[in-house]
Parts: sequence; structure tokens; C-alpha cells
Amino acid sequence: MSRVAYVNGTYSPRDEAVVHIEDRGFQFADGVYEVWSVFDGRLADFDGHMQRLHRSLNELKIEIPMTAAALGVVLRETVRRNRVRDGIVYLQVTRGTAPRDHAFPADVAPSVIVTAKRIDLSKGDRTAVNGAAGVTQPDIRWGRCDIKTVGLLPNVLAKQAARERGAYECLMYDEMGLVTEGSSTNAWIVDENGKLRTRDTQANILRGVTRAAILKLVEAEGVELDERAFSVEEAKKAREVFVTAASSFVMPLVSLDGVKIGDGKPGPIATRLREIYLEQARREAI
Ligand code: PDD
Repeated sequence: MSRVAYVNGTYSPRDEAVVHIEDRGFQFADGVYEVWSVFDGRLADFDGHMQRLHRSLNELKIEIPMTAAALGVVLRETVRRNRVRDGIVYLQVTRGTAPRDHAFPADVAPSVIVTAKRIDLSKGDRTAVNGAAGVTQPDIRWGRCDIKTVGLLPNVLAKQAARERGAYECLMYDEMGLVTEGSSTNAWIVDENGKLRTRDTQANILRGVTRAAILKLVEAEGVELDERAFSVEEAKKAREVFVTAASSFVMPLVSLDGVKIGDGKPGPIATRLREIYLEQARREAI
């Protein structure tokens, strides 16, 4: 089946869909993105991702290209045309196309790109049953990681480092040795004392929509939470380590830089949170 992409008002075969060479996303990474998971053709955490999109656009003074409702129509239509039941839908908004000049161009319309792809969810489920490997490396990103920009080169290098070491994710750490987040995920541990820890979002990290949903579930489950950064050393001594994102849901890491976490199997808290997050995300997808 041929795949379809939406680019600036037109649906076309994905392999023919193009953006202009002067698009500022291409020239300067001057754009933002969002990723929704799709269950049964419906979008999970629709409002959370839409709100963060608006925040990212506002922070960069990129014009909001269309209303949330209109964007929702485009996202769902792209999902439908690609016959995606379970998968992801990806949205990218750039400042638009203009002759290359660092400063913002005047009167330029933002570029909007939407693609969707199927994902075999059972694959992630199988990985989650056994747990995945993690590695660590210094965080070399800029100071505004709260904005979900397409400027992802340090994240790309971190993920590649993970792949080259046979791992699923790379956790990045700051100059104090404290974990910031994963290359495309937020990071969590259940520490030696059994407390659930994740770095607070006042720091230079992305405010994960999955992270926010999990925090609400944690409260309802009565798990003791300490929203505070943890070091790589603490993670290696933790009972559990896991990461969260729209594309991974909750993924347990059972080793870090080759050091076994806990008994080397996914722990009860990560396993439970994955189960209830998925159940809720499916139920509330719209
Ligand atoms: N990544 N931190 C970073 C650096 C991320 O890129 C992501 C998401 C997250 C988790 O955010 P959320 O729960 O809202 O998906 C945290 C997406 C999935 C990606 O880049 O493909």
C-alpha cells in the first residue's frame, strides 16, 4: 500500500512529498514537532501534545498554522489515508520558506508536514517483557530542551551511541552527573529506598506528555514519588530504571552501561505503569 504525506495543504504519495530547499526547518532546524501514538486509528493524549505544540510555537514566535481542531482533522485524515490502526502520527511545523537569512523573515507562512506509520505494538510489548539495555553519555544539548524543536543532532548522536553499544536508549547526564533524560524519552528510577524518582521539569528537559500522564497514574496508585534528579550512579544501584515517551510508552531498562539493574528483569512498578498507561491511553484516545 502506498503511503501518503500531508505537506502544506496537499496530500501526496509520501515518496513524492517534498519541502523547499529554503525551508527554515532544513536550513536552520527552525521548527518544532509532535508525535502522537495511534490506537485503533485514534490519537492518544491528543490535548497534551496539542498544548505542548502551542507552547513550543509560542516560545519560538512561530505562527500557529491552524486551529487545534483543524490540525486534528489533518492528523486523523493522514492516519486514515495511511490505513494506520496502531502506530504513530508525526507533525512538523517550521517557520516557513524564505531566502536564507538568520533573522526571522517577515510575512512567511509556517510549513506543516504530517506523516503516519504503522507500528507492530507486539514488538514493543515483547521488548518490555524482557527489558531493554541502556547506556549513558554527557548531555551536550542547548539550554532550551523544553521546546520540542527539530534541532535533534545531539539526540541523534546519543541514540546512535546506544545502537552501537547494542542498547535501546541512551540516558544523558549533566555536568553534575545527574541524568537529564533519554535521547527521545524521559527517565525514571525506583531508587534503593523504593521511591519513584524523575527529574523535575524546571530543569532543561522536555516536559513529556507521557511523563505527565504517568505522574497522574502514580498518584492514583499510591506509589511514593520524589520528583528530583538522580545520578547515573544512583540509577545503576536502583531497583528499577525505565523510560517513557509517546513511542515507547513505559520501557524498562534492565542494564545501564552493562551494569545489571536490580535482578536484571523488569521490575513491578515499571511493568504495572506500562500496563495501566496503555490501558488508559487506548481508552481515552480520540
Ligand atoms: N520523543 N524527551 C525527549 C528528548 C523526547 O524527544 C521525547 C519524545 C520525550 C518524551 O516525550 P513524550 O512523552 O511527550 O513523547 C522526552 C518523541 C517520541 C520523538 O522524538 O520521536
